[in-house]
Amino acid sequence: MASNSGSLSMFLLLMTLMITVSNYFGTNKIDLQLSETQKDLKKLTNTDSNFNYYSIQSQKDLLEQVKRGINQEFYQRVMPEVICKDKVRIGEKSDGGKYVCKPEAVNQDDCTIMSLGLNNQIEFDEHISKVTGGKCTILGADIAEQSNSTKSKYAAINGLLFVGKIPETLGLLDILKKTGKSKVDFLKVDIEGGEHAGLEPLIKEHSVCQIFIEIHGSPSLHLEMLQKMAKYNFRIFNVDPNFQCPTCCEYSLINENCMKQYGAVPLGITIPK
Ligand SMILES: *[C@@H]1O[C@H](CO)[C@@H](O)[C@H](O)[C@H]1NC(C)=O
Repeated sequence: MASNSGSLSMFLLLMTLMITVSNYFGTNKIDLQLSETQKDLKKLTNTDSNFNYYSIQSQKDLLEQVKRGINQEFYQRVMPEVICKDKVRIGEKSDGGKYVCKPEAVNQDDCTIMSLGLNNQIEFDEHISKVTGGKCTILGADIAEQSNSTKSKYAAINGLLFVGKIPETLGLLDILKKTGKSKVDFLKVDIEGGEHAGLEPLIKEHSVCQIFIEIHGSPSLHLEMLQKMAKYNFRIFNVDPNFQCPTCCEYSLINENCMKQYGAVPLGITIPK
């Protein structure tokens, strides 16, 4: 009897020890990852800001900037919520390029890219087609019919073109319905203000992984649009003001459901509800 309870307590002791050791290593691993992320963050934001920034304070600062109403100051206060180590610029080097998180990690055999706003400039479309293996379907849309040259280049990258003003005469849900698609891997949005009313039906009804969007208007409109996307768990990984258009800023966002696939690490939430 005595030896039985002795081995039982020995067993319990061993178990406790094992759990403690594995917890220790587990926690350490996370700490390592976090400190790497903090270094990335410092590089990204050029400041000494660290996780303290990811508090209620950062959200208050943003609301304060909305009240001040100065676009450039607002953009500076929008902090990344996610670190994407493998982000790349796709498309033009200057205005028009977009930051995409590890595009080659898409499921290359079954992928859909939506590109809204073309204006016969399809560098983004051609570049993303190339880096994703050339098999993705690209759904392009513009308010105007594209030139013959653009049409033939678009067909060559597995692209389909739609014409209409989003959302008034062309709905994003209709584009998916017509093409039999139900999910969008990458969504590029450059539609001169149409984003405010046009985007939500799509991200509400369908799974979308990454969004690259140019938002137009006052800081309060920018925040409203960022909040609309945050409602469906899109988190910011890049902010890029457009210097040719003071009221425009490019944001790249990734859905929480896709972070693992693209190797993105969450930091915190900076967009107030
Ligand atoms: C474009 O192609 C269509 C049909 O292929 C043709 O009728 C039209 O003349 C072409 N337009 C130009 C500007 O080349």
